[in-house]
Amino acid sequence: MITYASAPGKVIWFGEHFVVLGYPAIASSINLRAHVSIRDNSRGIIIESRNLGLRYVYGESPPREMRQFKHIIDYCVEEGIIDRLRRFHAVIDSNIPVASGLGSSAATSVAFTTAFLAHHGIDYDKELISRIAYEAEKLVHGKPSGIDNTISTYGGFIVYRSGSVKRIRIKWPNDYILFVVDTGIRRNTGKAVSMVLERYRRNEDIMKHVYRASEKIVNKAIKCLRSQDMECIAELMNINHGLLVSIGVSLQKIELIIHRALENGALAAKITGAGLGGSVIVLLKRELMKRIMKALRPIASHIYVVKPVNSGIIVKRE
Ligand code: PMV
Repeated sequence: MITYASAPGKVIWFGEHFVVLGYPAIASSINLRAHVSIRDNSRGIIIESRNLGLRYVYGESPPREMRQFKHIIDYCVEEGIIDRLRRFHAVIDSNIPVASGLGSSAATSVAFTTAFLAHHGIDYDKELISRIAYEAEKLVHGKPSGIDNTISTYGGFIVYRSGSVKRIRIKWPNDYILFVVDTGIRRNTGKAVSMVLERYRRNEDIMKHVYRASEKIVNKAIKCLRSQDMECIAELMNINHGLLVSIGVSLQKIELIIHRALENGALAAKITGAGLGGSVIVLLKRELMKRIMKALRPIASHIYVVKPVNSGIIVKRE
């Protein structure tokens, strides 16, 4: 019996960083996914990552990039979620770029947890999966808000605030597309989050207004998303980027990409995720795709054409 599980990457549309202090954020899953297959293996517990080219034998010390899987196994044993550890061979394969702000670590944790629990005969339970993946996220970066594991588990568009999830049902208009432009600068989410929190602490009476402005953006964006008012969404994305600049997570390269996209007709462009590298999202009309792609190609490390999708975890057994 083989279990296959997959979970999507995500983009944060509004509210990254502000969400860490309990303000709301909006994220959606995208059509890039992490896949895990798991099957019995008499020789022990082996986890292989195809895209990282790494292999980890449980019981040995894991490579840094694979610590999250050991943590998930240990957590499930320690918390009594599984009563007896079964041997298995898991293969992880993902088309979500790593360290780019697209939630690749959360998606692999969610997909691995789903496959791991199914392999141990535990009933499919999204709340449990997301909670376990959150434990792994804590290991990857110190103070995660929980948005990445939540969106990867549930999928669709969500408003996330301190652990609570509200779905926004929207039908994505076909004539609008989203570029995820990878700056090629690998960032560290944990460092970016602590830097922002320090700035907040030093200037709380100023920064609280920035955080409140972000909340207002999210509240308005919910309405604009529901009514498919793309002009409004675009404008709010641009305002949100301004707030991200004020908390210190932009870079020259990010600004270059954003300005070039806007000069070439994009409706909006902003950091998605932690910033200080990672990715920029660009909202554009489909008819301008070629022109904007051509303008960005020389300065981007990679451009992904993505679309929001409704699915979160997908699991099947054969
Ligand atoms: O890891 P990233 O780049 O997707 O960023 C996560 C979003 C933050 O709000 C910066 C951190 C968090 O835990 O919500």
